[in-house]
Amino acid sequence: KGQKSDSRGALIVLEGLDRSGKTSQSAKLASFLAEKGFSVESWRFPDRKTCVGEMISLYLLNKSQLDDQTIHLLFSANRWEKRSLMETKLRSGVTLVVDRYSYSGVAFSAAKGLDIQWCKAPEMGLLAPDLVLYLDIPPEKAAERGDYGVERYEQLDFQRKVAHHYKILCDETWKIVDGCLPMEAVEKQLREFTLECVSKCQRGEPLSQLWL
Ligand code: TMP
Repeated sequence: KGQKSDSRGALIVLEGLDRSGKTSQSAKLASFLAEKGFSVESWRFPDRKTCVGEMISLYLLNKSQLDDQTIHLLFSANRWEKRSLMETKLRSGVTLVVDRYSYSGVAFSAAKGLDIQWCKAPEMGLLAPDLVLYLDIPPEKAAERGDYGVERYEQLDFQRKVAHHYKILCDETWKIVDGCLPMEAVEKQLREFTLECVSKCQRGEPLSQLWL
């Protein structure tokens, strides 16, 4: 504290229920920042390209069975295996727009009945986002969107429980955006919150860790 840290990139996370529009909005937000001349990368969790990510992907496609604790820890490991690269990128000035993070990890596992504190424990020490953009959409609305129900968790009752747990996790880094607004209106709000956050990080806001 009190020490002036260097300029860095921002860690920006998008969260929301399945089909809330996160993926298209993350892509739009990343291209917007790139057009503005910022150095930016688009990331997502799970990262299905790693070995751990392949195990997660098989589970999500219902091609493998794992107990709730095991898949929870795999999702967490999938973030830990990216932690040092994430830190290097941020410190070198790259802003990361990340589609899902630890909040998905906790909200989805807690929705199955696992204890929240148990779910948070393996996430402790990961980098804390500078901004969490939560796309708020009623579970019923999400269920009406295209391709719903293809993957394991895309079921209305379950998504209702996930929404409940997201609300418990909400803290001062979160901005809740109404995901039912027209796409352009959502886009505009996300841009405003993001620009504010990116300049804060450029001015040297220190990096912090999650849930310690
Ligand atoms: P995706 O559709 O954004 O690729 O995410 C795949 C599913 O995995 C989605 O239903 C949310 C769920 N999930 C978890 O259960 N735990 C996690 O840690 C993450 C990142 C996603």
